[in-house]
Amino acid sequence: MAEFDNYIEYALEISRSEASPVRVLQDASGATRCGVGSTVWDAGLVLAKYLDRQTEEGKLDLANKTVLELGAGTGIVGIALARLQPQCSVFLTDKQELLPLLQRNIMLNDAANASAECLDWCRPEHRAGRWAGNKPDLILVSDGIWASDLHRPLAETLAQLAGANTRVLIAFETRKFDEEARFVALWSERFRFRDIKPAEQHRVMQSEDIFLFDGALK
Ligand SMILES: C[S@@+](CC[C@H](N)C(=O)[O-])C[C@H]1O[C@@H](n2cnc3c(N)ncnc32)[C@H](O)[C@@H]1O
Repeated sequence: MAEFDNYIEYALEISRSEASPVRVLQDASGATRCGVGSTVWDAGLVLAKYLDRQTEEGKLDLANKTVLELGAGTGIVGIALARLQPQCSVFLTDKQELLPLLQRNIMLNDAANASAECLDWCRPEHRAGRWAGNKPDLILVSDGIWASDLHRPLAETLAQLAGANTRVLIAFETRKFDEEARFVALWSERFRFRDIKPAEQHRVMQSEDIFLFDGALK
């Protein structure tokens, strides 16, 4: 497909015994018109491998559940989860310009239980009707708070899309601690959460710079 000629493949091993690695195309040059979402971010890898470990240990059963990923980028997290939990439906969302890459990467993995759609945190109309009567069971966000101007739109999107029974997993790499703390303070106005300790995370794919939070509406 000519559109992705300059992209390279990233492969992530997952532990389901019969599973081949999750493969996603990414723009290694970083110069793509799609912005930061067209490369794989470390926080996404940590979250994907946490979900892998949870699945492997039988602690996460998403059969017939709905998962929504916000700011999915290449789709590495949501596609990994779709492959790990074939009985759940995973909706990968991002800005419009990321949809061709998300769709390409879903196809690359034959992930029939995953789909891509546009959901821009800065466009309240994108979240007004679509998820109103149909709250997701799980919402995933990896490396979504790197830009402080997105903190409020993201926090509002999470508050609007989560229901009483929705679990929210947020992974982020710390770069500017004060700014990240401000997002956490904003988020915690509506959500209670705990941090997922390194001992619970994947044994290898973890980092002292990457935090995982497990939250739900208050
Ligand atoms: C740092 S990247 C992380 C991508 C992916 N989650 C990962 O971990 O590899 C941030 C993502 O947020 C998306 N994003 C930025 N602004 C957004 C907005 N207003 N609405 C929805 N997604 C947005 C970007 O397009 C990008 O995919």
